[in-house]
Amino acid sequence: MSGALPLTPALSPQAGSKHSPRPALAGRGRNPRQREGEGSRSFVIAIDGPAASGKGTLACRLADRLGFAHLDTGALYRATAFLVLDPGGDPADPETAARAARRIDRQLLADPRLRGEVVAAAASTVAAIPAVRRALLELQRSFAAHPPAPAKGAILDGRDIGSVVCPAADVKLFVTASAEERARRRLEELRQRGATAIFEDVLQDLKERDARDTERRTAPLTAAPDAIVIDTTALDADAVFERAYNLIARALKEKEWKQ
Ligand code: CDP
Repeated sequence: MSGALPLTPALSPQAGSKHSPRPALAGRGRNPRQREGEGSRSFVIAIDGPAASGKGTLACRLADRLGFAHLDTGALYRATAFLVLDPGGDPADPETAARAARRIDRQLLADPRLRGEVVAAAASTVAAIPAVRRALLELQRSFAAHPPAPAKGAILDGRDIGSVVCPAADVKLFVTASAEERARRRLEELRQRGATAIFEDVLQDLKERDARDTERRTAPLTAAPDAIVIDTTALDADAVFERAYNLIARALKEKEWKQ
């Protein structure tokens, strides 16, 4: 493989990653002189899927391997929900939620208080409000187009990345798994964080969130028509990673040929 395939290890400015304590949106490319690869388009990977499908873990590992920047867009909705809930606000109120979305700062995105299930449920409520999505759209697109240096590409994971935020993404993946398997994984995650939870409750919460995310009018959870679907129900994280990485390596190679 000759030339500029950016398959270098672990540069990993994983902004907004739930797996990384690094401040989110770090160096989001506001200063054009700091942008890496100005003039050449950023390589964008969109990863969508339902809650606890493994898309966050996959996005983090890919970002590490490729040296791409990662934005966990769910953290934006969680942060919005947190800013509403903290002073006792109502996540269903459009004005309160849209104001909160405009107040997100990079430090908040790494705050462990965003990871709780109460915040997650409120996140899916604020996420259904069009004004909230509008407030967060430009920020996500800007991250994709101008990932913080030295990354030459961006990975965004969420619900509507391939369909709405980055419809021209170079690679689109839709990562899914059965509700029961996702509930099992989320339960494990919660227990590892020291929380007590019951499988049936976690499953019920996930199903309610799936329904809110798929049935909302604005940017519902959906696989873009050109997304590659990876069902992870019977796959471990390594197998999912290998499959996704091979697809991306092929796409990177094709892009190099076209340039
Ligand atoms: O980590 P988990 O998959 O449980 O959820 P998340 O990715 O942190 O997202 C929390 C909530 O934010 C989701 O249930 C969605 O309602 C919303 N969300 C969205 O609407 N669009 C995105 N691009 C990302 C998240």
